[in-house]
Order: sequence, then structure tokens, then C-alpha cells
Amino acid sequence: MNLLELDSVTKEFPGPLTVLRDISLTVTTGEVVWLRGPSGTGKTTLLSLAGLLAEPTSGAVRVCGSSSLADAQAARTRRERIGFVFQKPVFFPALNTVENVALPSLAHRAEALTAAAELLDRFGVANRAVHRTALLSGGEAQRVALARALINDPQLLLADEPTAGLDDKTGDLVRKHLAQMAAEGRGVLVASHDGAFGTIATRTIELREGELS
Ligand SMILES: Nc1ncnc2c1ncn2[C@@H]1O[C@H](COP(=O)(O)OP(=O)(O)O)[C@@H](O)[C@H]1O
Ligand SMILES: [Mg+2]
Repeated sequence: MNLLELDSVTKEFPGPLTVLRDISLTVTTGEVVWLRGPSGTGKTTLLSLAGLLAEPTSGAVRVCGSSSLADAQAARTRRERIGFVFQKPVFFPALNTVENVALPSLAHRAEALTAAAELLDRFGVANRAVHRTALLSGGEAQRVALARALINDPQLLLADEPTAGLDDKTGDLVRKHLAQMAAEGRGVLVASHDGAFGTIATRTIELREGELS
């Protein structure tokens, strides 16, 4: 099943700057698609469009049938179907780590906190559950952000440089989990210049001067 479809997508910023040019891409169940490319080539922009966080200048984006940021269905699709790991995670400073992970959950609070604690444990940061997120190291923050992205068991995971700042062992742990998510029938689109993603990618695509190859 196609979890993500980009159909002739172009994205321009004022300047004008054409960051993405006529991009077509699908991500289906079971795939880990690795989006590589040098810094500044539009990887984050592409993921934002795929996550229904921004509108393309032209072309269409569909996630599990929801097609536009303006679509009433889009907010629901973002919440229920998409997990998004931002390049620079932002947390609510008033909440501790486990509360931040539980925050987007659609479950009742006690259940959400239990699930959040399990996810923190899975990524080796259970001992930071009641920490303030401001005190997390960069690598810990990455793993907490990944846990938060998985709290609603998304069908499509969009991960922007999810191993930036992680040591090799933790990076491998994260990659293993992404591969497992796909093997269980979800879809993963990961933007990274970390060559180690070659070990789990089922497909590799590269952005250069706004075009995919
Ligand atoms: N909101 C924006 N307004 C103007 N230019 C932007 C905006 N977002 C990104 N850009 C520009 O688009 C290009 C691609 O950025 P980005 O998608 O962050 O690349 P990458 O993630 O591959 O490093 C860069 O030149 C960046 O400056
Ligand atoms: Mg980026």
C-alpha cells in the first residue's frame, strides 16, 4: 500500500529559490527509503511536505489518502498516521521527558505515560524519564524525539537526521528499530547524510539541485 505519494511536487521559496523541482516519490508498506544529499539540498523541505506541515507550490502530496494541509482530514492524519522526528527536537520545557513523549498520545493519560515509559526504555533513556528535557544531551534528545514520534504507532515515520549526534552503538540501535518498524508493515522515510543507513535502506534516493536521482 502507498503510505506516501508525492506527485510532481515543486517547492519554491521567495527569492525565488526552487528547492524541489517536479519530485515524484512513493513510500509503501515495508520500505525504508533513505533520502540522502548534501546539506541545503532540500531534504528537510521534502520531509515537511510529506508530513503535511507545509504546502507544495505545485503538485500533490498524499499520506494515507489525505492530500492537503488545508484538508480537514490533514490534522487527523498527522496525529494518527504520521510520526515525525524533527532535525532539531523541541520539547515543552514545563513537562519532564516522559510527559513530553506522552503528550501527543491519543490514549488516556495513565496508558499514555506507560507507553511513553516503555518507548524510553526501548531507546535506552528510561533513566531520563523524570528529567527536565533541557538537561538532556543531544543524543538523548534525539532518542526521546524518536520515542515521541512513535507514541501513536504511526504507519509512516518521517525522520530527519535521526542519528545526528548519536554514537555508533546508539545509531545502530535507532537504525535497527526503524528497520523493524518497516518489517512490521509500516513505511519509513529517513533523511540523513549518515552513510550507515545504507545497511537498512530498502531503497536509496538522492536530492541534487532540487531533483531526485
Ligand atoms: N522557509 C524557508 N524560506 C526560505 N528558504 C528556505 C526555507 N526553508 C528552507 N529554505 C532553503 O531551502 C534550501 C533547502 O533547505 P533544507 O530543506 O533545510 O535542506 P537540507 O535539509 O537538505 O539541509 C536551503 O537553501 C534553505 O536555506
Ligand atoms: Mg535538513
